[in-house]
Amino acid sequence: MRIKLIAGNWKMYKTTAQAVAFARGFKALCAAGGTKNEIAVCAPFTQLAALKAEFGGSAVRLGAQNMHFEEEGAYTGEISAEMLAEIGVDYCVIGHSERRLYFAETDETVNKKLHTAFKHGITPIFCVGEALEQRDAGEEFHVVRKQVAAGLAGIGAKNAASIVIAYEPVWAIGTGRTATSGQAEEMCAFIRGEVGKLFGGEAAGKARIQYGGSVKPENAAEILGMPNIDGALVGGASLLPDKFLAICGG
Ligand code: 13P
Repeated sequence: MRIKLIAGNWKMYKTTAQAVAFARGFKALCAAGGTKNEIAVCAPFTQLAALKAEFGGSAVRLGAQNMHFEEEGAYTGEISAEMLAEIGVDYCVIGHSERRLYFAETDETVNKKLHTAFKHGITPIFCVGEALEQRDAGEEFHVVRKQVAAGLAGIGAKNAASIVIAYEPVWAIGTGRTATSGQAEEMCAFIRGEVGKLFGGEAAGKARIQYGGSVKPENAAEILGMPNIDGALVGGASLLPDKFLAICGG
């Protein structure tokens, strides 16, 4: 039985004071009624320690949004997996399309990051997804198959069983244009099949595959109701406690 993971990706939003206010508001709302799903907040680096203190002892898990693949070194401005693990980070978003687009991340660097994250006990939320031109050209399965195979290369069945993969079609991110639940389910099922081909049916049955892209309270329940969709990676709608909780409960 896969427990659904609803993860908020705050991107480059919120100061630490705003993050703490969110955590307090969210905890107060959760106290009024829980959810059967697992919940995580993936925040900017500077807010992680404060959020750990706020969410410590609660069921809300903590995630980062990026990390370097090297253990340490002369990489000005970068953050290592060990630094994140020291704070008690559970998850790290890896290979988000915005990082691939604006920060030159490739399937190869994403693969290295996955290896390093697992080594430090951090569960990757590994992002894949096609661009609009690729879907329009009918290439979406080809593109996602390549991203999955290259990203997961060499991670092994045990890690594959514990990974979170987020299918985020680039055309649905921040656009308000959500994939239909049918499109999302079709690709998440396809990704599960690819994980199965690479690592076997047991790993594929345990890996959690999320959908991300304009998830909001109005569409969350339908998306989360699909059999191969094990959660959501939520951008804009994760910034307000009540909106995010409405999605988490779905
Ligand atoms: P939106 O929910 O704002 O479309 O962002 C999705 C996303 O990129 C989550 O990682």
